[in-house]
Amino acid sequence: MCMERTFLMLKPDAVQRGLVGRIVAKLEDKGFKLVGMKFIQVDRALAEAHYAEHKGKGFFEPTVAYIMSSPVVAMVWQGKNVVALARELMGATNPANANPGSIRGKYGMDISRNVIHGSDSVASAEREIALYFKPEELVDYTKAGEDWLS
Ligand code: TYD
Ligand code: MG
Repeated sequence: MCMERTFLMLKPDAVQRGLVGRIVAKLEDKGFKLVGMKFIQVDRALAEAHYAEHKGKGFFEPTVAYIMSSPVVAMVWQGKNVVALARELMGATNPANANPGSIRGKYGMDISRNVIHGSDSVASAEREIALYFKPEELVDYTKAGEDWLS
């Protein structure tokens, strides 16, 4: 089984609108393996570090403020090609352009509240996982059925 991992976050609108269970179910249904999960309030330092690549852009400050506006669900998921496949499941950044079958396409309407974050590359995933999780918070276990997915 491939050990690729990605960082996914259910953003404040997903928590406030009660979408957490439905989105987690979609990720489980696909076959990905949950290896880390926590419900946290993001502070400014973490929010700015998360979106550091966008510093200086017009949407940086509103995006940082939004991500701090409610608790979020921070998660690490593992599986074959999970970084790219999770981005596919999420859909385009702007929910208005996202495939209606995708998470953003199904649940979102506006780019500033687009329900879910997902790492855009393996390198980003490593950086983001390290920002949100200590190594000992990621769980190593065998998931029933995972041998059918590789
Ligand atoms: P980005 O990394 O481009 O998108 P993605 O989340 O798909 O990797 O942008 C980060 C977040 O910033 C995005 O999820 C929502 C917000 N954002 C805006 O509010 N307006 C914008 O024009 C862009 C590009 C992003
Ligand atoms: Mg991005």
